[in-house]
Amino acid sequence: MNKLIGLTRNFSNSTSLNAIKTVTVVGGGLMGSGIAQVAAQAGQNVNLIDLKPELLDTAQKSIQNNLHRVARKIHKDAPAKIEEYVKEASERIKVSTNLEDGTNADLIVEAIVEKLDVKQQLFNRLDQLCPEHTILASNTSSISINEIGAGIKRKNKFGGLHFFNPVPVMRLLEVIKSEQMSEETYQAMMEWGKSVGKTCITCKDTPGFVVNRLLGPYSAEALRMYERGDASKEDIDIGMKLGAGYPMGPLELSDYTGLDTNKFVLNVLYEKTGNPVFKSIPLLDKMVAEGKLGVKTGEGFYKYKK
Ligand code: 3HC
Repeated sequence: MNKLIGLTRNFSNSTSLNAIKTVTVVGGGLMGSGIAQVAAQAGQNVNLIDLKPELLDTAQKSIQNNLHRVARKIHKDAPAKIEEYVKEASERIKVSTNLEDGTNADLIVEAIVEKLDVKQQLFNRLDQLCPEHTILASNTSSISINEIGAGIKRKNKFGGLHFFNPVPVMRLLEVIKSEQMSEETYQAMMEWGKSVGKTCITCKDTPGFVVNRLLGPYSAEALRMYERGDASKEDIDIGMKLGAGYPMGPLELSDYTGLDTNKFVLNVLYEKTGNPVFKSIPLLDKMVAEGKLGVKTGEGFYKYKK
């Protein structure tokens, strides 16, 4: 039966609106597991692929926990329904260490390491392995979408789908238009974003897209302010929470997203724009070199229980 569906799909070279029923997420880290979760919550079949089995174990555990949070909100006082919701959604997610187990999908979202050559290799392989109709997308935070897809043939079926951390909670999805993306692919991506509960905004393939381009200077200025000793880290964070209504202060946010990620985004923005606001920050470089990456390593600007 499944083979028949696969065969039927292979005959079609277009992904029409609402046709995305099977999604593969490549990369089982924080972002990848969040993307897999929201797709499963929306009733889609999901393949979650990662080379490291231990990462897939962690992803499955974190998805279970987060699905419980969601289920408790929907079915407040009905424990049986909570368990049923979690069971049904988690059963829609199949994990594998073999990329080929995920190639027969309508949409593939890549959320692997932020390295251009590694992403290019993955997309070149997916381009060869996937049926013609499959849309390929990268969740990169700041690498150029056109550069990532430079070697693939299906450039009309390729673009960026940039999620925000924590994926199940943050309501935004940036849909990044690649140079040769077709209107049909763009519409399919926008529809899919809506189907997983996100509000979609569109951006050209520009450094940092909308959100990171604006968060970058904010974060960099906060880091420099702390580095100069103008104010304590606590006061910088309280200032932006109580004075500007942000849910987290800039240093807390840096800890939350990871100082290595923050540094990477700023470096790319500087390299691509030359704007001195994005220039490297000695304090950030030092903390990253010392392995103080924030929540994930137990220490950044603040200390965390591992
Ligand atoms: N999965 C599901 N639900 C979750 C969750 C998760 N991983 N984490 C938190 N939640 C839910 C909680 O259940 C709670 O729901 P409720 O209010 O309905 O009860 C709600 O989210 C709030 O959670 P908490 O009470 O535990 O904690 P906070 O109120 O402190 O909120 C936060 C946590 C949602 C992370 C909030 O602090 C926040 O919005 N911070 C800013 C995050 C942000 O800016 N992210 C973007 C980073 S930039 C990025 O990702 C781009 C990349 O390219 C670098």
